[in-house]
Order: sequence, then structure tokens, then C-alpha cells
Amino acid sequence: ATARIGVTGLAVMGRNLARNLARHGWSVALHNRTYERTRSLVDEHGDEGTFVPSESMADFVASIERPRSVIVMVKAGEPTDAVIDELVPLLDEGDVIVDCGNAHFLDTRRREAALREHGLHFVGSGVSGGEEGALHGPSIMPGGSDHAYETLGPMFESIAAEVDGTPCCTHVGADGAGHFVKMVHNGIEYADMQLIAEAYDLLRHGTGADPARIAEIFSDWNGGELESYLIEITADVLGHTDAETGRPFVDVVLDQAEQKGTGRWTVQNALELGVPVTAIAEATFARSLSGHADQREAVRAAYAQVDPAVDSAPLAGEEADRFVEDVRRALYASKVLAYAQGFDQIRAGSDEYGWGIDLGSMATIWRGGCIIRARFLDRIREAYDSDPDLTSLLVAPFFRDAVADGLPSWRRVVATAARLGVPAPAFSTSLASFDALRAERLPAALIQGLRDDFGAHTYRRVDKPGTFHTLWAGDRSEESRD
Ligand code: 6PG
Repeated sequence: ATARIGVTGLAVMGRNLARNLARHGWSVALHNRTYERTRSLVDEHGDEGTFVPSESMADFVASIERPRSVIVMVKAGEPTDAVIDELVPLLDEGDVIVDCGNAHFLDTRRREAALREHGLHFVGSGVSGGEEGALHGPSIMPGGSDHAYETLGPMFESIAAEVDGTPCCTHVGADGAGHFVKMVHNGIEYADMQLIAEAYDLLRHGTGADPARIAEIFSDWNGGELESYLIEITADVLGHTDAETGRPFVDVVLDQAEQKGTGRWTVQNALELGVPVTAIAEATFARSLSGHADQREAVRAAYAQVDPAVDSAPLAGEEADRFVEDVRRALYASKVLAYAQGFDQIRAGSDEYGWGIDLGSMATIWRGGCIIRARFLDRIREAYDSDPDLTSLLVAPFFRDAVADGLPSWRRVVATAARLGVPAPAFSTSLASFDALRAERLPAALIQGLRDDFGAHTYRRVDKPGTFHTLWAGDRSEESRD
């Protein structure tokens, strides 16, 4: 055996992870279903480090030092199970299989439990940063056993992105914890992108600015508290001109957003856990809505002759400048809300599955390498470092001040969106969630009254303990239902 770690599945993500490992001095066994890919990796990049290519799975496994670490980088779902089934009889007790794809954390829990029966360790690891990240330094979120992390940790930490000397990789928690956190990361990614897209739409309709001008605005924003990878590439995409037509690129792309499922999983899981991730949910639904082309066309046609009752005249001069600043502040406040909700979900998942996830560490490993990397993750890390039991990011002094500062802008932007008839579901739901959280009384009391009226579902009172029911169809006296 001559390799320290193996990678099977050499499509672009697997290939880039293997190259990253080799570049950091780890000898890497290589395997792919078709040998051609393995050969081309060695031909093209063999000088980057030590690669040990094999044609068969058996030779591949035999070429790895024990305890073996085998990274599986194939499509989520059945292909992953098929590769695991092939590997299991070839491995020995104490060996570690690592799934670096975007698997559902419940699949990871199932696989981890099944492999434990064979004395094998299974690690579901989130890897974020796309193809470039995999090659130059991703953010890595491994779950699985402590034993597995002892083996993998040094390798993963060496290839991860680094911020202030700290690697963007940490042991997240047992079994599916890593894939759970990656799932929520992607949910936050959906919310962040939707908020950015709404900000662009509002600027375009609200001020009449063209995409090139809005690209400049985003570049400008990237110099301040919004500084992040997604804001940076927004400027890039908006500033791009389509070579064929000479039109702004964003105007020639079909306006139907696709998804591979991680946002949907986040929302499904949030519903199970009872965590209101409203911004992530709206972002996911907004993608679905965009794809309903027939329905969009039908509704547009049905209302074509109806006065839309909007005041769509773009703002100009100083008013337009003020609006741009309002959108910037509203974007920041909405982002704080969306991230706060994502972190709430991680806490709830950690409690539900007993993972003991350290929220500050998650913010730490998301500061670099991943798609949602941003300056303000440092602030999130600080907030959880100073109070690990923080009930919500919204109450951390830094974020409280930031939201308070942005609140008037946030309200003006949501009102302007309604006035202009520009859909801003993520901005609106974030503000609504904030207002619900800070309200002294919620109309949930009325919901309880209705439930009790039609179904005797009972209610609690503000002034004494216990459970009660009013005899709505009778004399309206109140009964204790304890
Ligand atoms: C990442 C990305 C990555 C993937 C997106 C795309 O962290 O590197 O999140 O995992 O490119 O999840 O997802 P959709 O196709 O669902 O937008």
C-alpha cells in the first residue's frame, strides 16, 4: 500500500479534491468507473503530487494504507449506495468511507449505522465552494465518529480554505451532522441569493438603472458590511454582456431558477423541526414559482387589461440615491434575519439528533471557502463565542444594533416593493418574521380561540396555568381541561 487516502469518482469535484490532497503532500489512490478519467487526471496533473491509479476497485483499496480513508465522490442517492456496497467487502475494520457529495443527512445516518455493523466508519462530509473551492480550498463539514476525524482531520484541515490561520474545517458532530449542516448552508445560500436577486430587481424597477450600473452598485456594496462572495459574483454576472446579442447577459437568460434539492430538504426538515426558516422557504418557493411558466403566462394574460394599481414611475436624483441606500440596508437586515433562522435550525437539529454542534464553529468554517463566505460570518462567530446559548442572533448586541439601524430602510423598501408591484417575497417575509418576533401580542391568540370554537382543541390563558375550553355552543362558560 502506497497511498494515504483514496478518491473514487473522478468527475470534476472528485478530481479537484484529489488534486488538492496531492498538492498538499498526501499520496492519493485514484479510481473511477471508467479508467479513462483516471488516466487523464494522471496525464494532465501527475506532476502535482503522488497519485496511485488503479483500474479495479480491489486494486484501489489495496493501494491505500490502513486504516484506510476512501473518499466517495459520486452522485447522491443510489450511485453512492452502489459504490459503498462494492467497497464494504474489500475494507477492513477501522477503515473510513467518506461521502463528500450533497447527500441527505438521513441517508448518511442510515449508512453510518449500517457500516458501523461492519466495524467501518462512515463520514458524511459537506464540501462547499464548487469546483474551484475543491481545488484551491473548500469549506469542509465532516460528520461521523471521533475516530474517523482523527484519521481524516489532518488531511481535510490541510486542504481546506484558511481564514486568519484557521482552517475552514472542523468535526461537526456524529453521523449525519456534517451533511445536515451542509444542507442548512445551502438553504441559507438559497435565501441569500434570493435576497440579492430581489435587491437587483428593486434597483432596476425602482431607479431605472441598467444591469451595468447595478453591477457597479453591488461592487460598491462589496466594499462594506455586505462584503461576500455572492455579492462579488453578482457584480460579475450583472456586468457581463452577452457576446452574441450585445445585450446584458441577465436579460438573455431564461428567468426560471432551477434547484437540485438541498434548499427543499432544508425547508422540509425545518417544517419537521418546527423552525420557521421563512426566508429560506420563500427563496425555495420563489424558484418553484419562476419555473411555472404556463401559470405565469396565464396570470399575466388574465390581468393584462386590469389596472395593476401600481405607481411604477422610477425614482430619480436624490430620491433614487436614497432608495439605493435603503435597499442596501434592507438587504443587510434581511440577511441577518435569514442567517439567524438558519442557525436556529442547526441548533434545533443538533438538539433533535444529539449532535452537540457548536454554532460558533460553524460560522468559523463558513468564513472562507464556501459559497456563503462573508465578512459578517466573523460577527456571527463572535456572537456565539461570547454567548453559546444565544437564543437568537437577532439579540446579539452587534446584530441588534445593525437591524435597528436598518429598520426604517427595511420598512421603506418593502413598502416600495408593494407600491411598484415588484415581487420581494424574501425581503417581505424577513421583515414580517422580525415584526412577529418583536410583537408583544400575536394574533395566535385568535387562532387558538378559533381552534377551540370549532374543534374543542383547548387553549391556555395569560393569567393562570392550565388548559381550558369554552362551551361555545352552550352557555359559554369555561371548563378546565387538565
Ligand atoms: C456549494 C454549493 C453546491 C451546489 C449548490 C447548487 O456549497 O458549493 O451549494 O453544493 O452547487 O448546492 O444547488 P442548486 O442546484 O440546488 O442551486
